[in-house]
Amino acid sequence: MLNQKSVDKAKKVQSINRKKQIKSLRGMKDILPAEQSYREFINQKASELLKVYSFSKIDTPILENLNLFVRSVGEDTDIVGKEMFSFVDKGGDKVCLRPEATASVVRAYVEHGMVNQSQPVKLYYNGAQFRHEKPQSGRYRQFHQLGLEVIGDPSPIIDAQMMLFAHNFLTELKIKFSIQVNSLGCKDCRKAYYKALNDFYRTKKRFICKDCQKRIMKNPLRLLDCKEEECQKIAEEVPQIVDYLCEDCNKHFVKVLEYLDELEIPYELNSRVVRGLDYYTKTIFEIWPEGGSSKKKNNNALGGGGRYDGLVEMLGGQPTPACGMAFGIERLITQMREQNVSLPPEKGIDVFLVQVGAGARKRCLSLFEELRVSKLKVAEALSKNGLRQQLDKANKLRARFALILGQQELINGTIIIRDMDDSTQETINIDKVVEQVKKKMKTSKIKKTKLKK
Ligand code: HAM
Repeated sequence: MLNQKSVDKAKKVQSINRKKQIKSLRGMKDILPAEQSYREFINQKASELLKVYSFSKIDTPILENLNLFVRSVGEDTDIVGKEMFSFVDKGGDKVCLRPEATASVVRAYVEHGMVNQSQPVKLYYNGAQFRHEKPQSGRYRQFHQLGLEVIGDPSPIIDAQMMLFAHNFLTELKIKFSIQVNSLGCKDCRKAYYKALNDFYRTKKRFICKDCQKRIMKNPLRLLDCKEEECQKIAEEVPQIVDYLCEDCNKHFVKVLEYLDELEIPYELNSRVVRGLDYYTKTIFEIWPEGGSSKKKNNNALGGGGRYDGLVEMLGGQPTPACGMAFGIERLITQMREQNVSLPPEKGIDVFLVQVGAGARKRCLSLFEELRVSKLKVAEALSKNGLRQQLDKANKLRARFALILGQQELINGTIIIRDMDDSTQETINIDKVVEQVKKKMKTSKIKKTKLKK
């Protein structure tokens, strides 16, 4: 039994070690192997769809000029006002970690003269974004977005196609969701709407939070999606922006909805969805998970987007209409887990290499390479000794065959090939191993197809 002295000593060592540990930053997380399979599945489904809809990939730098987001996302938005990871670099430039990618993609479109390509230019990206938000469930300081941008087409059919993509993508992922749609109109309709909002809030100023009191003058749309309970209650009575749309914006919105109806895509009109970025015009939408409270759904949107017809010009390009959206990968994974969506089983491997004894282990090093180069899907457990342990692993990996090399086989220049389906085994010449495995795999495939028929 340990005496008190050694228990105290162990505790002290433990406490010193704990202090030495460096942990990840708040709101930043490691993506461990258990989560990678979800990401791979999501990326695979996305890339299949992106190909069909003719999107090309773009990667933009993580670090950008701070002004890019101040000008596009807007100085008075939460993202720019409160959540930027910004700093002055060694050359004295004001830079930041990108909080979103639309502004970067549009910067690249202008910078690389993509206006001279056939329009619209359809781009997608998949990468990390950074926002210094209060970490909570579904809200990280580093998160990943899969985003699509269609630049150079004013037609409402593009807006509908974006939502069609979202519908198809989330259906493929087997996530239950709803599409919340609204229109923010253009500058002109917004002027009329801001006046209506101002009139509405004139008598209610003292009942709303301090941030919202400032928002009345600075960014009135933000009054509608304030997360404070009191503000939300008041916002329920607020005039609806769709009643203030000019003729052109109204026509555009009606067309979008007609296309969605034609495609039989379910959606909900939601005048409280305003989005948190200033560059939007006309159609906007959010993808909410199904179930849970409206507040929770709104705070944990799976994706969102809309039209941003003024952004290209705002960033120095010619007037160019555009529309896009982005999904939050972490939120998609959380939903898949919460909604018990199971991943398709991983495909099994062709052969698992089992070795018993030091000589066999050494020989298996090169044998593994022979099998790999011959395009067989092969795995090993060279650090394990026991036969049972290794066969268990072969079973876990759903190996079609196990190749077993022991001392005796090594001396005889042979190897045992074991059929993992029926446990039958045969000794073969080690020099013919690739040929034999391939032959057996072929016969086994024919047998299986016949059985299926
Ligand atoms: P957003 O609504 O700010 O839009 O972000 C899109 C999605 O990113 C959200 O719906 C959410 O799933 C995810 N997301 C945002 N913040 C966080 C966070 N802190 N932690 C985890 N996930 C988060 C945009 O960024 C626009 N650029 C979308 C767009 C593209 N509009 C037009 N084109």
